[in-house]
Amino acid sequence: MKIFIDTAEVKEIEEINRLGILDGVTTNPSLIAKSKRKFKEVVGEICKIVDGPVSMEVLSTNFDEMLKEAKEYSKIAENIVIKIPLIPEGIRCVNELTNLGIQTNVTLCFSAPQALLAAKVGATYISPFIGRIDDLGYNGMELISEIRSIYDNYNFPTQILAASIRHPLHFKEASLLGANAVTVPYSTLKMIFKHPLTDIGLDKFLEDAKNIIL
Ligand code: E4P
Repeated sequence: MKIFIDTAEVKEIEEINRLGILDGVTTNPSLIAKSKRKFKEVVGEICKIVDGPVSMEVLSTNFDEMLKEAKEYSKIAENIVIKIPLIPEGIRCVNELTNLGIQTNVTLCFSAPQALLAAKVGATYISPFIGRIDDLGYNGMELISEIRSIYDNYNFPTQILAASIRHPLHFKEASLLGANAVTVPYSTLKMIFKHPLTDIGLDKFLEDAKNIIL
């Protein structure tokens, strides 16, 4: 399973990339705004840090404008993936980008039929937003399972990129259900490392190590 980081903070990306566990990066307009950096500049910098796919979202919602943005952004670096919202004009745009050989990530997916439409037009990735479904009192993880079954039934090559991940349990369940990739915020990646028994065990080893005869 591929691990992506869901952030536009260069320092976070550099730190996680150094660990050797990072396969790619996803950004969205909210994360870019939070970084307080210039849009194309910060994404260009991220593309130089990470070899794998870096998702960059279009800011418009009509076909012509989205296509124009996608063509422009895809020139920033070879590893750019164009993120397109799951609306009719977006699906039309993904169809066109597939024909042009430009990689896409269809975002804001909240149902299995939506995911099926994205696969029909050859999306490279589909991003089901797990945490936001949980927020409404439903089980977001069921969506991963449904999409996995549909894509497997028809051999759709579109990769499931579990998004809106809020805690390590989401990360674990998405991998158990066969998501191809999971995009995880920096704070959640750090949480995965945290286990009280790891900390207690390490403290004890370090204490006992003082008595080792070298
Ligand atoms: C994914 O591509 C999105 O950027 C992200 O995972 C959304 O997460 P949120 O629901 O925590 O904003």
